[in-house]
Amino acid sequence: MEKTFTFDSDLTVNRLGYGTMQLTGDGVWGPVADPDNAVKVIETAIDHGVNFIDTADAYGPFYANLYLRDALKNRPDNHVMVATKVGNTRQGPDVWTPVGVPAYLRQQVEMNLFTLGLDHIDLLQLHRVDPNIPLADQIGVLKDMQDEGKIKHIGLSQVSVDQLKEATAIAPIVSVQNMYNLSNRQDEDVLDYADAHHIAFIPWFPLATGELIKDATLTNIAQKYNASPAQIALAWLLKRSDVILPIPGTKSSDHELQNIQAQDIDLSQADFDALKALAK
Ligand SMILES: NC(=O)c1ccc[n+]([C@@H]2O[C@H](COP(=O)([O-])OP(=O)(O)OC[C@H]3O[C@@H](n4cnc5c(N)ncnc54)[C@H](OP(=O)(O)O)[C@@H]3O)[C@@H](O)[C@H]2O)c1
Repeated sequence: MEKTFTFDSDLTVNRLGYGTMQLTGDGVWGPVADPDNAVKVIETAIDHGVNFIDTADAYGPFYANLYLRDALKNRPDNHVMVATKVGNTRQGPDVWTPVGVPAYLRQQVEMNLFTLGLDHIDLLQLHRVDPNIPLADQIGVLKDMQDEGKIKHIGLSQVSVDQLKEATAIAPIVSVQNMYNLSNRQDEDVLDYADAHHIAFIPWFPLATGELIKDATLTNIAQKYNASPAQIALAWLLKRSDVILPIPGTKSSDHELQNIQAQDIDLSQADFDALKALAK
């Protein structure tokens, strides 16, 4: 099992990353209850080797980016690859509406740069494809900003293999971020395509937002490894394919440390196969 994934000659990251979405108020809306703790969780991740962090303008909106900016400022010597997103608008708690108007996408890339305190984005993902705007226009504006040096790499989120192929004809696509975890493996075809083309596959909800850790089979297998169910769920993803970069989210530094240790668990093939049966 590879512990790292290489995007290009300057960007090799540890595969076990972190996602900032939990660092917001209820319904991913507004600030988190304890902002100092939010910054500390990210710093803990960075201090223990996490150098791939997923975020989005839509988380808060912007609050998660601001906590990430503070953590990055406090760790100037660590290069962290920041993967952010544009293309999802927010109207309130748990409300998400895709908007892919090119001028809006451009504005949100600029807003990500402000709020993250960066001069370029290492990985800019289109959060959702807007069905009302031609894909060529949505990817086209990101390609323009790549040519301007504001974006290093372009990725997609929640897409089919066909959409991935269509986008690749417009600009190089280095990553795809789709829902995928032990209990929901509906996008195996997208993962297999990513695997075959060395495209990073970033599974969102890697712990099924915490639901997975209550599963009895997972709990039994975890006991064999003296590990927690969350760790085994992450170890399974890491074993499934070397292009998978899990980005578990947490508000807890203790859980963050636990999640990082998942990369050291060597799951047997028999347990890997037994856990496959959890998928609905
Ligand atoms: N592209 C997209 O459309 C999309 C959609 C959703 C999410 N995402 C990304 O995916 C990331 C991960 O998703 P997520 O955070 O919603 O869900 P998740 O990682 O599947 O699960 C997070 C939940 O698991 C709990 N948890 C984490 N580590 C744990 C541990 N070691 N033991 C016990 N509980 C643990 C957390 O609670 P505690 O806080 O108590 O630890 C939290 O409730 C997000 O942060 C975001 O970056 C992307």
